[in-house]
Amino acid sequence: MCGIIGCCSNHNVLHNTINGLKKLEYRGYDSCGITFLLNKEFHTFKSIKRIEDLSKNINIDGGLAIAHTRWATHGKVSLDNAHPIYSSDKKYIIVHNGIIENYLKIKDTYLKEYIFYTETDTEVIINLIDYLNKKCTMLESIKRLYEILEGTYACLIIDKNEDKIYFIKNKSPLILGFSNELIITSDILALPKNTKKYYRLKDGDYGYITKDTYSLFNINDQNHFLFLDYYPLNYDISLKGFKHYMEKEIYEIPDLLHNYINKKYENRIINTLKNSNKIYLVASGTSFNAASLGALFFSQISKKESYAFISSEFQIDNTYDDKAIFVVISQSGETADLIKAISKIKKKNYEVIAICNVENSTIKEMSDYFININAGVEIAVASTKSYTLSSLVMYQLANIIVDNDYKEKLTDIVDNISSIFDVKDKIKKIASYISNKEHLYYLGKGIDYLLCNEASLKLKEISYIHSESFPSGELKHGSIALISSSSIVIGIITDPSNANLIRNSLEEVKSRGAKTYVISLESLSLDSDSIIIKDFDKYLSFIPISIIIQLLAYFTALNLGNDIDKPRNLAKSVTVE
Ligand code: G6P
Repeated sequence: MCGIIGCCSNHNVLHNTINGLKKLEYRGYDSCGITFLLNKEFHTFKSIKRIEDLSKNINIDGGLAIAHTRWATHGKVSLDNAHPIYSSDKKYIIVHNGIIENYLKIKDTYLKEYIFYTETDTEVIINLIDYLNKKCTMLESIKRLYEILEGTYACLIIDKNEDKIYFIKNKSPLILGFSNELIITSDILALPKNTKKYYRLKDGDYGYITKDTYSLFNINDQNHFLFLDYYPLNYDISLKGFKHYMEKEIYEIPDLLHNYINKKYENRIINTLKNSNKIYLVASGTSFNAASLGALFFSQISKKESYAFISSEFQIDNTYDDKAIFVVISQSGETADLIKAISKIKKKNYEVIAICNVENSTIKEMSDYFININAGVEIAVASTKSYTLSSLVMYQLANIIVDNDYKEKLTDIVDNISSIFDVKDKIKKIASYISNKEHLYYLGKGIDYLLCNEASLKLKEISYIHSESFPSGELKHGSIALISSSSIVIGIITDPSNANLIRNSLEEVKSRGAKTYVISLESLSLDSDSIIIKDFDKYLSFIPISIIIQLLAYFTALNLGNDIDKPRNLAKSVTVE
């Protein structure tokens, strides 16, 4: 989703700004732009293609620039709507992440005289700055935004008469980095490697950076600015011979699993979980599918009452027990829906354990306990290794809190998992059959149904094939009406207690003409099954199955020639509600 970066220096900043912008690409975007301020003149370049395309057209350089990757919310994808966005008199310019909820009211109240050139909510902010600045200083105008704007916003703003980048932050991430120049950005990944210190802005912070210094304030006048040492994030973003990051990230799973055999969890986390009587898991998207697996592990392995909630649907009421604990899962650590859910949980004074792939994230900061899944940076928008590893964390915790020894079972997986890639050709065969179809259904029960949910999500995210997953028992209560001779149904069978029931449902769809594929464990397999994998512990089969379903989605999208790492309309880090 949108990313922002601004640089101020005594040297030219094109290189660092564009490099930073490229590092924001993984978040997902549909247009991009950059503005330089040179001798009190703005020079703006925009593209509705990729950053590569933007770079080609930039024919100047300078010491002050702001740039943006836009993921359209208000207004279609167009050059006009791409940021940076000018005030109507072109005296000010802005890049903005977030959504202004009361933008229509602001237009009506303050900006009736202004002409608008874009369809964005952002243009309201920059015209509002123009309006406010007629009566007070720029810094006071920035501060006043907090009184007027409702919604989420991280903004960088330039007044063409000042060599400064003003900033303000509310509920969208913003980080101030100190390297050879001052850099302000929405994502720590965008900071250059030679950054020495950084500061993660809090809501209510505002100020400006110049070529040599910065000024930082908070609306509540809190003196709480905590500057942290920056250690270059050691992540490898080369494709290492793979065609796409998604493929590379799936292939990283076996190695990453090694680190889990002796993984230690903090005692205070273990004790908190042990002392709780209910475990509520909250997450979005793929992380929600991992949370569903977690709820199953905690209830079946640890015998704790556990439920998974979708962040955007999460409502906290008074029925939660005093001894309840909340576990939130997020690969990015910045998902707006989850941040909102955590705020609700914290208001009721419950403790939160975060399972996340980003150390320096808002969700870590909001939580009482933090578990880093250490998957390494995940660039493909479709989450793969993060799903597998956050599910594994919950499997381990569920066992540890009831003193189960799971190491032998996990070692068995770790030692054998690489052989899962031997079924690649079989996966490709299914992929080539389904690539030209419009609909596909996954069928499972219990843990297999939860895996089907993720299989279906992964497939639709990158292949754009309409896909749904059904609990096999529920099929006959409605969805079977969809089945015809053109239907494809994929069954996943890893749980002995449900195998027969899933087979029955597959027979029901077959007798109505559907083409079926089955992914099963050896001991539960039939010769006719499409992919048969070695038996693993029932609760750990999600590891090989997750790899298979991820590869199936990948090969299908590959056949279709889709932009696999940056699927249409999707973002890696969804920072708006
Ligand atoms: C976006 C991504 C998904 C991800 C979801 C939740 O929609 O495209 O891949 O599962 O956000 O993200 P989180 O970072 O909270 O796991």
